[in-house]
Amino acid sequence: MCSAVRDRPAPYADAVPDPPLVLGIETSCDETGIGIVRGTTLLADAVASSVEEHARFGGVVPEVASRAHLEAMVPTVHRALDTAGVTLGDLDAVAVTAGPGLAGALLVGVAAAKAYSLALDLPLYGVNHLAAHVAVDVLEHGPLPEPCLAMLVSGGHSSLLLVEDVTATMSPLGATVDDAAGEAFDKVARLLGLGFPGGPAVDRLAKGGDRQAISFPRSMMRDDSYDVSFSGLKTAVARWVEARQAAGEHVPVADVCASFQEAVVDVLTGKAVRACRDQGIGTLLLGGGVAANSRLRSLAEQRCAAAGIALRVPRPGLCTDNGAMVAALGARLVAAGAAPSPLDLPADSAMDVRVVVSA
Ligand code: KG4
Ligand code: ZN
Repeated sequence: MCSAVRDRPAPYADAVPDPPLVLGIETSCDETGIGIVRGTTLLADAVASSVEEHARFGGVVPEVASRAHLEAMVPTVHRALDTAGVTLGDLDAVAVTAGPGLAGALLVGVAAAKAYSLALDLPLYGVNHLAAHVAVDVLEHGPLPEPCLAMLVSGGHSSLLLVEDVTATMSPLGATVDDAAGEAFDKVARLLGLGFPGGPAVDRLAKGGDRQAISFPRSMMRDDSYDVSFSGLKTAVARWVEARQAAGEHVPVADVCASFQEAVVDVLTGKAVRACRDQGIGTLLLGGGVAANSRLRSLAEQRCAAAGIALRVPRPGLCTDNGAMVAALGARLVAAGAAPSPLDLPADSAMDVRVVVSA
């Protein structure tokens, strides 16, 4: 090949910019998550968790979480930049979780994002935490087929969403009417003395138990809505354990974990698959901390395969709260030409799921 031709810049070189390099900041609960994404490529996912500071209280203490975010923010940003091999000057945009979440915890992330945006003269995107849980999947499995259905289950939320376009519209189809799924795992773990957070411990112990040993209730399983309820299940587990203890009988912890977990995942997968069928949607995405649950993943796989639905579940580290998910959504917003948020964007602890980015 003639070198003159080979060395000539491509005529479209200016018209096709590099995919945007985006910094994502997540502080809605107890994880200070900093992610760096170029387009749909994950370059860094640094997480500093304050979970151990909350363990003795059996749940996240908002003030403790806020202070921990404040201390972790700058070192975690630098760790992410080092891992990604980029500098602050290379960034094209900053994205931050604007809500929903703990007000004080969100404030730390939003204030930090505003500071980076102002100092570096970069567009700022205040994004919805739930949309970020959906967008993260593109980092692992490529472009998301839209519309799709997303079941997001964590300590703070249990939502079934119709995702028409994750950069613009998501519609709620159902949600928990009381406890979030992760909250139920945490409360049951607490009554069994398994520590906090309880989900991973229940998941681990359930592997050695019989999921049919105890028939716990499946609330709202047969009604027409896509809502779920876990408060009655949690109480049923507590009553069952108390009755055993009062009778001086041994509590088979592994069986309780397996049977409780089965009740939760039976309802979640049953409702999600029914919603896909009713809405004529061919793709189900799972996200949120509880999507790290091994039985939820395997039952969802089984039921989706039987119903001809494609299942997408990010790896466990991308299901729990992290900054990569915020950066992934930010990169999609930049690529879609979405308008940035104003610099006075608020931290919105009750941000509506239909709002993907603060205007
Ligand atoms: O998404 P996440 O990290 O934070 C919130 O937004 O809440 O989710 C944390 C929740 C906790 O309730 C934790 O117990 C639960 O996810 N969780 C699990 C598992 N890993 C984390 N629940 C069940 N099985 C797991 N393997
Ligand atoms: Zn979350």
